[in-house]
Amino acid sequence: MEKLRACIEQRVPVKHIHIPDELTDYTSQLELVEFLKPQVVNNPLYFKSFLSQYIQRIEVLSQETSDEIYDLFVDEQILNAKELPPDVSDVIKYHVNGFNNIGSSADDMIVMKEMPRLISGNNTTGLRTWEAALFLANMLNDEKARSTFLSCDLANKTVVELGCGTGLLGLSLAKHCHKRSPLHKIIMTDGSTAVFDNLQESLERNNLSESNVLQFQQLIWGEPLTINGNVDLIIAADITYDVGVFETLCNTINDFFTLKNLQFAIIAATVRNAETINSWENELDKWFPNRWETAVVESRPGSISANCYFDVNTPGIRVYIIKSI
Ligand SMILES: C[S@@+](CC[C@H](N)C(=O)[O-])C[C@H]1O[C@@H](n2cnc3c(N)ncnc32)[C@H](O)[C@@H]1O
Repeated sequence: MEKLRACIEQRVPVKHIHIPDELTDYTSQLELVEFLKPQVVNNPLYFKSFLSQYIQRIEVLSQETSDEIYDLFVDEQILNAKELPPDVSDVIKYHVNGFNNIGSSADDMIVMKEMPRLISGNNTTGLRTWEAALFLANMLNDEKARSTFLSCDLANKTVVELGCGTGLLGLSLAKHCHKRSPLHKIIMTDGSTAVFDNLQESLERNNLSESNVLQFQQLIWGEPLTINGNVDLIIAADITYDVGVFETLCNTINDFFTLKNLQFAIIAATVRNAETINSWENELDKWFPNRWETAVVESRPGSISANCYFDVNTPGIRVYIIKSI
């Protein structure tokens, strides 16, 4: 049930959800109804589609369909469900405690109100969570996975996130890692101030409103740094999609190395386009010769079996690490 719940909460396309036979019995049906009911309002069409598949599965297995499941299926919201426009938000939960299938607690998940159907447009790339953020969040929050590419612990470290968008990375460290190995500060930055309005709600949803480790600051790449104090680690995901900003981005990272005593920058990139990724690596060569490496390569994220889900069509993900001199 845990895995099924995780898939539904991350809005895995229904055709990719596996419903184990044992989860079609009467007790599971009741359990599922209680789990689904409060979420229907966020995306009725998704739940209509899921329930339709679930009921089909029950019927194929010649099980008895409970009144509770039917009642939910004919609920007015579900009957009248329509495709949500791309700018309407949904509430999505992402598992961030490493690539495993073990049961999870509230600290292992980040809840986001976001616009997952939004492709991109003017200043909107930060309004949905991207795959590289989910990948890196799971790598960083799992001590074993993290130690494969990062030699230092995160305890007492000051971390800056660049281009935080919905904030999955920074929030996951604050919610999961910080509780186990307290960090000094996590400063979440983005060039767009609109992302910070959304972040307020995410803080509440994740019980992080009172967090004293999180800070927020606008930071536009290429502009002078206004961050106080030294910074140990930069983290970022999916900020290497636009060749036009590589120079200013590297300039900013370099400023952190020269002015803020930065030790490591860790940047996760989705390899959507070979030309773009080659340009990025050329830019790294130019700014940080012999100081960067591709620390992690996941060529088929869709093949990862874990509580977090990557679509089968997710392009490869690379994690770059840049070190101080
Ligand atoms: C594709 S989104 C990635 C968001 C988030 N890291 C994720 O992976 O879900 C890119 C983010 O970089 C930010 N960004 C783009 N250009 C920027 C710039 N020149 N300075 C600072 N932030 C920028 C955008 O506002 C956006 O939030």
